[in-house]
Amino acid sequence: MSANKAKTHPIPITATKSAHVPDMDAYRQLVAEAEADYSGYWSRLAREFLSWKTPFTQGLDDSRAPFFTWFEDGTLNVSYNCLDRQVERGLGDKTAIIFEADDGQVTRIDYRELLARTCRMANVLKARGVKKGDRVVIYMSMSIEGVIAMQACARVGATHSVVFGGFSAQSLRDRIQDAGAVMVVTADEQVRGGKQLPLKAIVDEAIALGGCESVANVLVYRRTGGAVGWNASRDRWLHDEMQAQSPACEPEWVGAEHPLFVLYTSGSTGKPKGVQHSSGGYLLHAALTTLWTFDLRPDDVFWCTADIGWVTGHTYITYGPLALGATEVIFEGVPTYPDAGRFWKMIQDHRVSVFYTAPTAIRSLIKAAEADESVHPKRYDLSSLRILGSVGEPINPAAWEWFHQHVGGGHCPVVDTFWQTETGGHMITPLPGATPLVPGSCTLPFPGIAAAIVDETGNDVPNGQGGILVVKKPWPSMIRTIWGDPERFKSSYYPPELKGCYLAGDGAIRDAGTGYFTITGRIDDVLNVSGHRMGTMEIESALVSCTELVAEAAVVGRPDETTGEAICAFVVLKRTRPSGEEARQIADKLRHWVAREIGPIAKPKDIRFGDNLPKTRSGKIMRRLLRSVAKGETITQDTSTLENPAILEQLAQKN
Ligand code: WT7
Repeated sequence: MSANKAKTHPIPITATKSAHVPDMDAYRQLVAEAEADYSGYWSRLAREFLSWKTPFTQGLDDSRAPFFTWFEDGTLNVSYNCLDRQVERGLGDKTAIIFEADDGQVTRIDYRELLARTCRMANVLKARGVKKGDRVVIYMSMSIEGVIAMQACARVGATHSVVFGGFSAQSLRDRIQDAGAVMVVTADEQVRGGKQLPLKAIVDEAIALGGCESVANVLVYRRTGGAVGWNASRDRWLHDEMQAQSPACEPEWVGAEHPLFVLYTSGSTGKPKGVQHSSGGYLLHAALTTLWTFDLRPDDVFWCTADIGWVTGHTYITYGPLALGATEVIFEGVPTYPDAGRFWKMIQDHRVSVFYTAPTAIRSLIKAAEADESVHPKRYDLSSLRILGSVGEPINPAAWEWFHQHVGGGHCPVVDTFWQTETGGHMITPLPGATPLVPGSCTLPFPGIAAAIVDETGNDVPNGQGGILVVKKPWPSMIRTIWGDPERFKSSYYPPELKGCYLAGDGAIRDAGTGYFTITGRIDDVLNVSGHRMGTMEIESALVSCTELVAEAAVVGRPDETTGEAICAFVVLKRTRPSGEEARQIADKLRHWVAREIGPIAKPKDIRFGDNLPKTRSGKIMRRLLRSVAKGETITQDTSTLENPAILEQLAQKN
């Protein structure tokens, strides 16, 4: 798709009144400032946005490229910047978090109380032996306590690693082990869509799998009071522990490069990688993008619907909004419970003014609203909304228009924010008030981000021609390394042929006229299903680990109307190829197996059985052909190099 043909939306008037970046001239001025003195530009912002214990003397240090550092000799504490600072500024009584539980019950917490509870929890961590530099795994539901756990780690200088509550015991074990965590923070259960789902039991199962000997303590937040197994030498109730601690805790001042967190994400090969982020550079971009991209104002009510288990929740729930002293909504449940009007009702009830969500959610709520008028956004008072945001995957123009029209009443800018776990914060995004919007385009780089499109040899391609999305200069919130694997960091993100550019892993095209970016999707074997990132290799490994049944498996993505992409698995069984009811039963068994190995989000939507897979004579699986088969396309490509061309017809049959 070319951005040229799409309709340009005039900048809605509500956004232009005194926006932080008020017009394109202001945008260009910032871009020019960064071009003139790159390190100086970010250093100016780092001084303005963050409170330093010891000021830094140097911005960027590129002497150990691609291991770049920012503000390295400065010291600070992230939780001080998010909490104490707000209380010192007189915002102690301001609501920090409005929490809405799955059942609709609302809890508010102000900055003073959030600080006190973070301090209590930080003291619990210290009392249980957690020291600066230790890793703490957080396996929690969406809750105020989840945010407090992250902030408490930051306060004592521990590096947190949040694992999304939908991952299996096996995945959790792998992450605990890779991080060498000394503690796990969890809840007894989580509540989603009216159902109570286990968390503590999965932690027990993960530890029982072995390899988690580093874990000395498991802290358990009591959410539901449901029955849990208990190991008295290891398990502690969070409320008991916090009660016994003081609500004051001196922050641990750390260097700007100190690892604030490691967050696991999928790559094209091997196991998930631990993306390591810094403290100073990361927090700078979290705060700066929250302010400029959402044009955040003191009286805004900000709601990011992401889970804290993903990077969006880290940057736009736990860190960015709090670093600015904002009021934000946190939601425990799911958008379709008790009905698909839940988001609209919550916007109405809490007078949400900035709403940030994912295209998948929008698409499924469009479907629901079309099927049932009573959950259509027009049935709710959404007049508090000022700005809308989208994240996680490309937003198709039709969904963009619906979001803009029916949720935003035609007057709220939609910011389509492109970024990644590795980038820490927004990379390419409109700035409301400044950037004319084009549905389906994430528009222009955030001021100071050197995004570009190149060919396989790292040379620029002209606008209007697609290529590989790269970032030509290091930026403050970029990934620092892959936890424990610096070589994999280098080869994944700085391949030699790209001449020192950061490789994002996406394809992109710039409009010939406007220079606007449109992301065309991953160029590696990474899938994006409902905004969840997964490696095809991971799912293949999970399938073939079912050794009783599976001989061989290949996984590809195919476009899906609601989830963006859907997982399609081609499987060769150890027994003869099943059909009919039997095939469906085995497919279900394999879906369960994958859910157990990775998590329910990795379950293949389609499973097709074949006597073999399409291979070249040298034995290489032709994924390109499998992608066509998955889409239901007639194969027009040349199949003469195939060892077994007839197999394609067999694989085209659905179960
Ligand atoms: C991948 C990163 C960004 C935080 C949540 C996902 C895709 C993300 C957009 C967008 C088109 C997008 C890319 C990217 N993606 N945002 N606005 N338009 N594609 O983080 O799990 O690290 O996934 O999500 O393919 O590489 P992630």
